[in-house]
Amino acid sequence: MEGNNPQTTRVPAAKSDRWWERAVIYQIYPRSFQDSNADGVGDLEGIRRRLDYIASLGVDAIWLSPIYPSPMADFGYDVADHCDVDPMFGSLASFDKLLDDVHAHGLKLLLDFVPNHTSDQHPWFHESRSSRSNPKRDWYIWRDPAPDGGPPNNWTSDMGGSAWEWDAATGQYYLHAFLREQPDLNWRNPDVRQAMLDVLHFWLDRGVDGFRIDVLWHCYKAAELPDNPPNPDYRPELGEKHKVLQHYSADQPEIHELAAAFRTMADSYGERLLVGEVCLPLPRLMAYYGSEAAPGVHLPFNFALLDCPWNPRALAEIITTYEAALPPAGWPNWVIGSHDAPRIAARIGEAQARVAMMLLLTLRGTPTLYQGDELGIGKVPIPAHRVRDPQDLRQPGLGLGRDRSRTPMPWNSAPFAGFSSTEPWLPLNPDWGSRNVSAQAADPGSMLALTRKLLHFRRLSDALTRGAFSLLHADEAVLAYERTFADERLVVVLNLSALPRPHPVRGVALVSTRGLPADPVTLRPHEGVILLPED
Ligand code: GLC
Repeated sequence: MEGNNPQTTRVPAAKSDRWWERAVIYQIYPRSFQDSNADGVGDLEGIRRRLDYIASLGVDAIWLSPIYPSPMADFGYDVADHCDVDPMFGSLASFDKLLDDVHAHGLKLLLDFVPNHTSDQHPWFHESRSSRSNPKRDWYIWRDPAPDGGPPNNWTSDMGGSAWEWDAATGQYYLHAFLREQPDLNWRNPDVRQAMLDVLHFWLDRGVDGFRIDVLWHCYKAAELPDNPPNPDYRPELGEKHKVLQHYSADQPEIHELAAAFRTMADSYGERLLVGEVCLPLPRLMAYYGSEAAPGVHLPFNFALLDCPWNPRALAEIITTYEAALPPAGWPNWVIGSHDAPRIAARIGEAQARVAMMLLLTLRGTPTLYQGDELGIGKVPIPAHRVRDPQDLRQPGLGLGRDRSRTPMPWNSAPFAGFSSTEPWLPLNPDWGSRNVSAQAADPGSMLALTRKLLHFRRLSDALTRGAFSLLHADEAVLAYERTFADERLVVVLNLSALPRPHPVRGVALVSTRGLPADPVTLRPHEGVILLPED
């Protein structure tokens, strides 16, 4: 990569100026943000009380993980009513109040839309499983047993085990790509489609600014439900979902027409944003942008940074192949953390998490920042008796647990870190006494201070929010790239190593992950800088 001709990797500046192209999205996991009613679980009123904090970060939009009524088998991703709020989180009235306040803070609000499945406690599923002749039977995917009485095919659930659950009362199996408590909807049934489009209408009419669409690529399965091919690379430690390749159980061609229908609906409300959760290799991911004639979601999530090797050459490869794969009108996006992925600081260490934050906030495209990453929350041990994540409970010992990324926000050094007045549903990060919002707000050298600085710097920079991108340099320790818009030219230089390194570019440092002043000749260990380059 060293000595790369910048012309070959140059990506031009954005032509249009839609709000979400310049925006930074902040993901809130509502159970763990702020409790306001002393039950140890976060809620909407808690979020509302923290809006000043969110706005002060310098982000533009909030995405809320699911807030709908749910038995919480998968912590809200098992929806029992798409058009209401779980009492644990509040009510429709508290939602409306939150939405008004979000807008009053100049922020946007995205909800999580979960179209692939519902809870098994959803009234639709109650009806569907009540008898084979129920009008809603076909709203879910029911099949007779295989000739040996076993499941209809070899599909595995993403949470482990077969994707089929036997229903003795009606003598058929139903399909669930995730937990058995999350039966898959049958999107080939037009009534399902209409009912779910009505759900989008319901929230758009209430004024939400868009949706993050859960497991979008799962919604359609091949009509005949053939066996999936076995995965030749399967190893048990990967988890049972990898036993077979999801060739027929996901990413079917019909999904793009559905994504286009979601998009048409969103566009009919003005500039509303659709972010699609799509975990697929690049060429298949790119198809979710749709075409000019039939646009898909605005932002198919780009998870490439979540599990990549943390070295400059690998990052350069990821960034340039992603940029090169984007369709002409496709706007990029980047993610370094979520409620499903290990914490970035746990994965690469706190010093590099600061570098990762600079990377996230200076690449071309819309970043999504996950709550708590602005504090550099790292490893959080979850004692066995406190494990709550169903994925971990079903496949213990594989390190698949997601609780470690879902621990409560530490706000201050009051009991329970100011998150709640009672024991929270998950443990706090062990260093919450010092790693909390109020301690870091008072420390100019903190991760929070750095995140704020980067977010505010980014806001004021056309080069960072919509400028062109060129890769300048990647060796075994240092990655450098340039962002330009009109006369504005900035260079980002990231030292991914624990040693001092010579600067590949001359210039004046405007921001450093290790604080200013920065040495113009030598990068400090783990230092990232944004430079005004010398010409
Ligand atoms: C998505 C969510 C994850 C959930 C799954 C099933 O991947 O992010 O948390 O378990 O969908 O809904």
